Amino acid sequence: MIGRLNHVAIAVPDLEAASESYRSTLGAKVSEPLDQPEHGVTVVFIELPNTKVELLFPLGEKSPIQGFLDKNPSGGIHHICYEVEDILAARDKLQAGGMRVLGTGEPKLGAHNNPVLFLHPKDNFGTLVELEQTGAH
Ligand code: CO
Repeated sequence: MIGRLNHVAIAVPDLEAASESYRSTLGAKVSEPLDQPEHGVTVVFIELPNTKVELLFPLGEKSPIQGFLDKNPSGGIHHICYEVEDILAARDKLQAGGMRVLGTGEPKLGAHNNPVLFLHPKDNFGTLVELEQTGAH
């Protein structure tokens, strides 16, 4: 059911330093920072030939990234995102299988303006998993 790996999201304590490292040292194509107030993050997109990396930095008082950085001061992998064709069908199937969906269970618009959901890390071997509806390929 899950499709391609859409992105790996890394929370970073210094967005400028992390962007510069990806740009200059690792030699990747790195976007300008983009504020996403509705998600409490500033995001930098790194385009790789086969997938993306997203650098996440806290934005605002109640950022969901701040707690993660408090526990992981040098940063760390925050979540991975798999593509699905139909997010509601995927959600219903996963919930029927006992997997917990975070929040209200209703998809929100994600970083790429596609519907997204997050799955409980404890049901996914300690990894926060995002599902993004990208339609059929
Ligand atoms: Co994401």
